[in-house]
Amino acid sequence: MHYNLNNNPVIVVGGAGYIGAHVCKTIAKHGGRPIVFDNFSAGHKHAIKWGPHVEVDLRDRKATQKAFETHSDVKTVIHLASSIEVGIGEKYPSEFYDNNVSGALNLLMAMKYTGADRLIFSSTCATYGETQNMPLLETEVQNPFSVYGKTKLAIEHMIQSYHKAYGMKYVTFRYFNASGADASGEIGEEHDPETHLIPNALKAAAGLGPKMKLFGADYDTPDGTCIRDYIHVTDIALAHIDAIRTLDEGATTHAEVNIGTGEGYSVLEILTMIQKVTGLPVPYDISPRREGDLTQLYADATNAKKVLGFSPQHSDLENIIKTAWNFHRKQWE
Ligand SMILES: NC(=O)c1ccc[n+]([C@@H]2O[C@H](COP(=O)([O-])OP(=O)(O)OC[C@H]3O[C@@H](n4cnc5c(N)ncnc54)[C@H](O)[C@@H]3O)[C@@H](O)[C@H]2O)c1
Repeated sequence: MHYNLNNNPVIVVGGAGYIGAHVCKTIAKHGGRPIVFDNFSAGHKHAIKWGPHVEVDLRDRKATQKAFETHSDVKTVIHLASSIEVGIGEKYPSEFYDNNVSGALNLLMAMKYTGADRLIFSSTCATYGETQNMPLLETEVQNPFSVYGKTKLAIEHMIQSYHKAYGMKYVTFRYFNASGADASGEIGEEHDPETHLIPNALKAAAGLGPKMKLFGADYDTPDGTCIRDYIHVTDIALAHIDAIRTLDEGATTHAEVNIGTGEGYSVLEILTMIQKVTGLPVPYDISPRREGDLTQLYADATNAKKVLGFSPQHSDLENIIKTAWNFHRKQWE
């Protein structure tokens, strides 16, 4: 459904990152004005193409408040900025809590100060714990294993408190595995270090990286490898438009919503699809299981449809791999 944002401004915190850049492009396509707030710790200036940006670090409370003051007409904020590398969180929890939790608190305080009263927050399926209950419903117990998941759950709770006490409206998205790239190939996944399966497997297939490490082939799944729910980044971006529309229309004032496809693929199924799309086999070595990797994670995606009218349109696995391959090949040329 095409919703016109009527030239309204939207602050996109973390808009220079992988998902943020796709969100900005989609906001512009829907007639809105994305304003990126980012400290460029992981994002890229070249990924900001659809509006102005403010260089600001959320950990700096005063600077964050000032950035919001200069855009005090903005009502809607999308919060994607965070430390995301799970292994780093285990090693340096204090930096992780500082960036994610203190950063989010500063953001909430600045929003309250300027009267920006709508927030769309990027949480994660990593807030759920080990469970056999697949597909995962939003009502599943949240008992995160990693520091990363714990920081995201803490932010979810802070946002709920702001809603209860101050009436802040919100949609908290629990994304599953973001993947793929914009169809044009102009933006895509550029994490450094890259820990995600698809870009690393594509690099290995192209002969540009080391053999891929397949962490564990002895899981209790049909082929022994972990199962995840891969959702195209363009679909994730479109879900944000549905969230803005739903909050604008007052259809809901607060919601926690899984953003996934409802379908799981194993690591080996991904490698098979990569070979089909690229014509290249992915060289890999089997390594021991990584601590904290759950056997399988895939979403119950019905709530997103019910609450936001959202369902994925771009997330068939072949399209995910094709668009990612298209983006990375351009990068490597
Ligand atoms: N990529 C996935 O598969 C996935 C899955 C679930 C949830 N998420 C969540 O989605 C969000 C975006 O993920 P991504 O893959 O685009 O990550 P990314 O690292 O590409 O983007 C994050 C952006 O936030 C910025 N940032 C970080 N700390 C900041 C700070 N203190 N102040 C200002 N800017 C700061 C970075 O510079 C970067 O541009 C994250 O919050 C992540 O936890 C991602």
